[in-house]
Amino acid sequence: LNAKMTLEKEFTIAEIDPRIYGSFIEHLGRAVYGGIYEPGHPDADEKGYRRDVSKLIADLRVPIVRYPGGNFVSGYNWEDGIGPRENRPRKLELAWRTIETNEFGTNEFVDWARSVGAQVMMAVNLGTRGIDEARSLIEYCNHPGGTYWSDLRKQHGYARPHAIKTWCLGNEMDGPWQIGHKTAEEYGRLSLETAKVMKWVDPTIEVVSCGSSNTNMPTFPEYEATSLDLNYEAVDYVSLHQYYGNRTNDTASFLAYSMDLDHFIRTIKSTCDYIQAKKRSKKTMYLSFDEWNVWFHSNEADKQIEPWTIAPPQLEDIYTFEDALLVGSMLITLLKHADRVKIACLAQLVNVIAPIMTVNGGGSWRQTIYYPYLHASVYGRGIALQPVVSSPKYDSKAFTDVPYLDSVAVFNPELEEIAVFAVNRSLNDSLALECDIRSFGDYRVAEHIVLEHDDLKAVNTLQEERVRPHANGRSSASEGRVTAVLPKHSWHVIRLA
Ligand code: AHR
Repeated sequence: LNAKMTLEKEFTIAEIDPRIYGSFIEHLGRAVYGGIYEPGHPDADEKGYRRDVSKLIADLRVPIVRYPGGNFVSGYNWEDGIGPRENRPRKLELAWRTIETNEFGTNEFVDWARSVGAQVMMAVNLGTRGIDEARSLIEYCNHPGGTYWSDLRKQHGYARPHAIKTWCLGNEMDGPWQIGHKTAEEYGRLSLETAKVMKWVDPTIEVVSCGSSNTNMPTFPEYEATSLDLNYEAVDYVSLHQYYGNRTNDTASFLAYSMDLDHFIRTIKSTCDYIQAKKRSKKTMYLSFDEWNVWFHSNEADKQIEPWTIAPPQLEDIYTFEDALLVGSMLITLLKHADRVKIACLAQLVNVIAPIMTVNGGGSWRQTIYYPYLHASVYGRGIALQPVVSSPKYDSKAFTDVPYLDSVAVFNPELEEIAVFAVNRSLNDSLALECDIRSFGDYRVAEHIVLEHDDLKAVNTLQEERVRPHANGRSSASEGRVTAVLPKHSWHVIRLA
């Protein structure tokens, strides 16, 4: 198979907002307890944060982490997680049917996020609660002092405000599974009033309005249209969530799911623009893709989990090599929409559908999906370029006209480097890629990183990292032309300098 790509310096999509490489920690399973936080672990620091996990996260350069949910937030009383630990209540956690000890809460999370160099993206409960609790939480977190909630924060040892800038107005409010599920009209009104009041407390914040939980929701994209019609001027982003799975073992279709992701983003862009036009508004609505990943491996095992236990091993998907390819392709798709997608969160970060796994009291390890996420976050900073691609295509059961080559490029003006990210979706053939970069001048291949494996179902474990990248990719560049060989089903980062 042969594919061609042209990169032109002037064909830019947008400057990439680094928050596109965000992630997510929910009070769910072992994400917090036994994940980022495990006092008594041999590698825990004085606050109980696991150093081994923090190190793996720091390598990923995660810029922002969403917290505390997810479905969890829709039943959460944030006041349960502040103040002296001995006074914090144990409660039934209804979203995931566990017991929440509240040993870890807002301040612990803010401290932890700071320690790994990430901003906090905080969600408020618009399921069981509303405007009043949201305004108290933001007063507690962001107000300098001299009021009940801000002084309480000081009393808890935080003299300076947390200055949390990005806030989610609830979570997946379109889903009947959500505690306090709302119609689009109900949510539009509630989110408008909550955003208004939160911005009265702190006018510097940005807020995210909930959109559809996935493209199969019966209310997609009407939920966005109706709720944005009500809250458009008060909110800054609309959220998108999407998970995929290879349930029928149809890898050709599975690897094409990023086309559905692309369709999702295009639809929501158009929906936002329709509301903007309808309102004669000058404001562009940006997108926060604040949950995305592969999620299906653990579905059956989760049904066997005993309810009302503390931090059980929920949603512990063990990712295969082919999952890493789709994650790479999803990252490529997000980058192709860098003009509108300003925030995205790989859901989640540790143990729960996560790139990083831990053993309670033991070690930690990188799943297969860790690698494309790492590569995009480290090498995908700068300006997203719009490649002109010509690739042979295939049809699968679920998709037609799927290009074998899925690719995007990023130009880093500070380093004067280009990174070409590419997936060869072919299950049988390698792709000979020719890339024209003449407008950039004479660049050389600085490194060609490849993630490949003969076994699409290969996984990593604590004992053995079967799927790991190597830097022996076959490519060369001369006089503004790059040629590369992309073996069947593989992920690539070609760094040109
Ligand atoms: O990330 C796991 C769950 O997926 C989140 O709690 C919820 O928002 C989504 O349905």
